[in-house]
Amino acid sequence: MMIKSIILAAGEGTRMKSKKPKGLHKICGKSMLNYVIDAAKNAGISENILVVGHKKEEVINETKRDGVRHVVQPMGKEYAYGTGFAVMQAKDYINADDYIVILYGDTPLITNKTLEKLISFHKKGNFSATVLTAEFDDPTGYGRIIRDENNRIMSIVEHKDTSKEQKDIREINSGIYCFNGNQLRDALDKLDNNNSQNEYYITDAVEIFNKEGLTVGGYKIEDSLEIFGVNSRIQLAQAEKIMRQRINDKLMLSGATIINPDNTYIECDVQIGEDTVIFPGVIIEGNSVIGSECVIGHNTRIVNSKISNNVEIQYSTVIESSIGDNTTVGPYAYLRPNSILGKCVKIGDFVEVKNSKIGDFSKASHLAYIGDADVGKDVNIGCAVIFVNYDGTSKHKTIVQDNAFIGSNSNLIAPVIVKESGYVAAGSTITDEVPNGALAIARSRQVNKKDWRDTKK
Ligand code: UD1
Ligand code: CA
Repeated sequence: MMIKSIILAAGEGTRMKSKKPKGLHKICGKSMLNYVIDAAKNAGISENILVVGHKKEEVINETKRDGVRHVVQPMGKEYAYGTGFAVMQAKDYINADDYIVILYGDTPLITNKTLEKLISFHKKGNFSATVLTAEFDDPTGYGRIIRDENNRIMSIVEHKDTSKEQKDIREINSGIYCFNGNQLRDALDKLDNNNSQNEYYITDAVEIFNKEGLTVGGYKIEDSLEIFGVNSRIQLAQAEKIMRQRINDKLMLSGATIINPDNTYIECDVQIGEDTVIFPGVIIEGNSVIGSECVIGHNTRIVNSKISNNVEIQYSTVIESSIGDNTTVGPYAYLRPNSILGKCVKIGDFVEVKNSKIGDFSKASHLAYIGDADVGKDVNIGCAVIFVNYDGTSKHKTIVQDNAFIGSNSNLIAPVIVKESGYVAAGSTITDEVPNGALAIARSRQVNKKDWRDTKK
């Protein structure tokens, strides 16, 4: 006995107007399909069968994960269509004693908690199938739940096939179900496509069961937002908004302050420590981890980065980098990939760092470019210093050892090394090693031409 899911994701999603298959569109940094798979996995469903069709290679590529198996629905005019036909493609993997949860790839807001409740309701009620239903003020477009006088679910009628009276029924089919494996297998053999769309409807299983004296349960969802389906870009943005709110709520409940959650964009896998304050307009993406007691100032963007504790970042961009405790960054700094800042570092305004290590207590307070460098501890990098790392063909490395001082407006032409406590005079262009403790002056000496203005006359 196993609980398995069958996730339907073969459809084209034409209303998205997209080259990309619908389930691969992302909300808050993760594809819709992966949200559905995660909800199933977190509900304890270890085998998930994804029915793919339209652009199947792309879908398979995005969802190749442990516990996911792909089956292909043949697509084209010569083939049938419909949710029933899609489920049929997974029949080989349905065992008689399995419980099968059917899900869609375009309902990313479904939660593991609801799936757990659906499964336990199904088991307790000894049903052949349980339909997850919802009550909508406007049920247009959805299949309607038809109950008898004893409130038992007798059938599901598609909107297009409803009678005038049935159109008024507000209880709808979410498209999510839990089935007993053996009975689902039997029902799949009995489906036909005699309906307005000539499709095989999985919903017809309900009527088939009733004819055979089997009972169908209905579990009404508590929060109907969870079954919100995405068919257009407008609905994609609506789903994103709901997901964003869930993410921000979770972070706030775990101790982060988010000053304006409506205007803060944090992706689903981001972690934030206690007492960190996030100002408006912040975007935090990917698997970024932010420590505790940090201040992430407004309009900062952080991508796949690790920020330690008590770090302050103002109006800056941090990409694939890491920042040590008590360090300050910005305003207007740009940390490009593989910038590794130590503790108590200061990276000030208009400083760009790329592929460089900067040791503890070092400072670059204003207007510098530090690329492909290894900077030690307690180093001071003056205003407008340039690490000249590129000769037009290759990138070269600069090493600045502990306690060095690089005077303002200097160029360090890589490859080059400034040794421990080396001192570079302002305005120097350094092409050779600066020895331990030495002062390097690499600029022409000032010449004052006396009374020069008078000689010009
Ligand atoms: C379906 C239900 C309807 C329910 C609604 C909820 C049926 C017959 N109807 O209608 O009762 O209220 O969902 O949203 O089941 N798919 C495939 N292969 C196919 C057809 C569909 O994989 O051949 C997938 C689609 O990609 C989609 C899902 O199944 O993710 C639902 O299909 P769709 O055609 O949108 O069903 P609805 O008409 O909305
Ligand atoms: Ca639909």
